Amino acid sequence: MYAFTPDRSLPRSELYRELAASARALVAGEPDGVANMANLSALIWQFVDRLNWAGFYRVVDGQLVLGPFQGKAACIRIPFGQGVCGAAAQSGETQLVPDVHAFPGHIACDAASRSELVVPVIRGGQVIAVIDLDSPEPGRFDAEDAAGIEALAKVIAAVI
Ligand code: SME
Repeated sequence: MYAFTPDRSLPRSELYRELAASARALVAGEPDGVANMANLSALIWQFVDRLNWAGFYRVVDGQLVLGPFQGKAACIRIPFGQGVCGAAAQSGETQLVPDVHAFPGHIACDAASRSELVVPVIRGGQVIAVIDLDSPEPGRFDAEDAAGIEALAKVIAAVI
């Protein structure tokens, strides 16, 4: 049993430090990327509140393909440059979207999503996946959330 018990009342920077430390512990010694992404999406779900979707899209043959996640069933394939995930994959840069309805080309996988944070996972200078967080609240994510998930992306880049 893995008993990670995040204290959601902690300052967010501290909570994200704990998330990264827990992620490091969870993937230690496990080379299977699918298993690691499955556990990591569960960990994000536990640590980060007010989400309706959290998980991975992997780069496969030049497009994004759905990976392990928490939330409702989602779109399976996303071309680079399309939607928020495709923008993150193409640019290699975090996408912080306070209002998904205002984002040109946003792909609505879950109609409940109102704001979104997508962070690329980079290994050897290449985007290999993105971490996607959706919230039913407009403006749910800010720079602190982006920094926290970017730190997580660095921790896990070698093991997914
Ligand atoms: N909204 C995303 C698609 C993925 S789902 O949110 C899970 C996008 O525009 O890329």
